[in-house]
Amino acid sequence: MREKNSFEDNKIAQQWITAIEKPQDSSREREYYPLLYSWSHDMHDATIVEIGSGQGICSSKIDLVNNRYIGVEPSQALLDRAKALYPEPSKQFLLGNSYESSLSDASIDAVFSVGVWFHVENIDRAHAEMRRILKPGGKLLILTGNHAAQSQWESFFENPVVTGNIIEGKVYVPGGSMDHNILYLHDSEDLRTSLVKNGFVVDSIREMGFGGKQKRPLGIFICVQATKLG
Ligand SMILES: C[S@@+](CC[C@H](N)C(=O)[O-])C[C@H]1O[C@@H](n2cnc3c(N)ncnc32)[C@H](O)[C@@H]1O
Repeated sequence: MREKNSFEDNKIAQQWITAIEKPQDSSREREYYPLLYSWSHDMHDATIVEIGSGQGICSSKIDLVNNRYIGVEPSQALLDRAKALYPEPSKQFLLGNSYESSLSDASIDAVFSVGVWFHVENIDRAHAEMRRILKPGGKLLILTGNHAAQSQWESFFENPVVTGNIIEGKVYVPGGSMDHNILYLHDSEDLRTSLVKNGFVVDSIREMGFGGKQKRPLGIFICVQATKLG
């Protein structure tokens, strides 16, 4: 069992494709993609997995000269789009999710995920799955919404229904909008505690996404980096 994922609705998947494929000048280009590149550039002969790979754009932002990429995605429409856009032999796209990735035990060198962990309700289950698939010493990088910036996130929604840290409704994203989405804005300390409980050392947690010319007081994203213990 897992929570409802709006992106598995074909109309909403199409709305995401339209938005993400528009040329943008957002935090993605300025901060997230360069970070993914430098993180992957340090790896050699590594199998790098992206959880929640969407229509595949992040597969074109990491360094695959010496590495292989596997995107795991629960939306069939987004998976089909990723396979069509990124048919390179160094890239593979599979149906799966953060709780059941379909990957083998201790087979993966590094996992990253961008804009997904705030769609994941049960972080303990997701972290247990990351522990299962990563090799000892394997790296994890999660870019997700910053709970401390919840009011900023609420402002991206039209008439949001807010229940504690859960925000639901129509949301505006750079490049477009989606008729429905649900965010679970996990507190960074809850993420840290859950990772440690599941056998990770947390290397760093830092805010990102401070905006362009108009600086935000808080980053809307956090980047969590962790290492699986041996
Ligand atoms: C905002 S999109 C980001 C897609 C991609 N990571 C990117 O940066 O372009 C969120 C993605 O998370 C996926 N998703 C939602 N719940 C998920 C879960 N439990 N496990 C894995 N992916 C999930 C959605 O299907 C969607 O593709």
